[in-house]
Amino acid sequence: MSERPSKKQLNSLAFASQSVHAGNAIDEGSKAIRTPLVMANSYALPEDPSEVSWSGTEVPLYTRNSGVNQLKLQEKLAALEGGEDAVALASGVAALHAVAFTFLRSGDHVVVSDVTYEATWRLFAELLPEKFNIQTTFVDSSDTEALRAATQENTRLVHVETIGNPTTKVTDISAAAQVAHDVGALLSVDSTFTPPPLYRPLQDGADLVVHSLTKYINGHGDAMGGAVIGGHELISRIKADAMVDVGGVISPFNAWLITRGSITLPLRLQQHLSSAQYLAEHLEADSRVAFVAYPGLTSHPQHDLARRQFGERGYGGVLSFAVEGDPDTQNRFVANLELITSAVSLGHDESLIVHVGTSGPRVAAYPSEFQKYGHLRFAVGLEDPEDLAADLTAALDATF
Ligand SMILES: Cc1ncc(COP(=O)(O)O)c(C=O)c1O
Repeated sequence: MSERPSKKQLNSLAFASQSVHAGNAIDEGSKAIRTPLVMANSYALPEDPSEVSWSGTEVPLYTRNSGVNQLKLQEKLAALEGGEDAVALASGVAALHAVAFTFLRSGDHVVVSDVTYEATWRLFAELLPEKFNIQTTFVDSSDTEALRAATQENTRLVHVETIGNPTTKVTDISAAAQVAHDVGALLSVDSTFTPPPLYRPLQDGADLVVHSLTKYINGHGDAMGGAVIGGHELISRIKADAMVDVGGVISPFNAWLITRGSITLPLRLQQHLSSAQYLAEHLEADSRVAFVAYPGLTSHPQHDLARRQFGERGYGGVLSFAVEGDPDTQNRFVANLELITSAVSLGHDESLIVHVGTSGPRVAAYPSEFQKYGHLRFAVGLEDPEDLAADLTAALDATF
């Protein structure tokens, strides 16, 4: 396969150009100008294979190590996040697990934000402590002093989300990096809510960036994947420990789909960001709406930090809100929506909404309005924002 443009040229191109060209190559066999889908498990060895490293991950060998499509996706993700290297895995949670599995051992301590995706919480609150004696302190990561106070001599990892799922809490990544590095720990940042070019945590000192590729980077709701991006040494360790020898590998087909989906990431993201801002303001102005949590609103507690950190490019495509009333009212409101689909996930082309009630292990860490009403997590899609606003208003009219 021949690279065009060359890696050196690519580095000097703007994000939109990188989105089109990074991780692509002309296929020398067929002359296809996009990297073809290669559904092979194994690749031809050289005549004398004695020099081949069976755990190698850099050239096509065996798909659990290095298939063509996952290598190309990894190259692209590293370019888009501004990292030296990336590892692509089967899902976002496989990527989170890979970070913990690779860098933690029994007796270590971790500091994790008190607001994260629920499976992240379970990994650090239940699975790692119970099975491997890895202890976690959960802390309000928007409070840098609290974050610092939570660290210990044996803290090896600090893990936060740029914008927390589902409360939209924002963490100061530069400050968190300082806290982690002061105790010799790594900072891992789940940036699923803030894909590039909106934000690149490595530039603010994060050591590892985690993405659920299932969301914005793929963008079409049809493939699952996860990734960790960072420096070459750290990513090589994840590849060796969590990919080759544990096997949470991405399928070639999903790697190919996600590479294709990511071509339009900057264009799609622009629409997600502007529509989310518009709809957050639209909902906040309606007296039948109890609260709206979105970092782009001046009412958001970390709005100033978000503006500084994300450079006014935008504030993500997800907002949480509730309508006035009990859980039945929230459910009736969702049932009255005709365009917005009731389903989990986010970052898809279509708008998705999910009603989350007031029970569950995480709710105590959420702001009081979340505890009172539950919340509707609304992942704003690519439909016309006026159509989405009309759907929300019609559903409010039908509910009240
Ligand atoms: C912030 C965040 N991280 C990780 C994940 C897990 O990703 P996946 O579903 O691809 O395993 C999710 C899923 O919703 C998420 O919202």
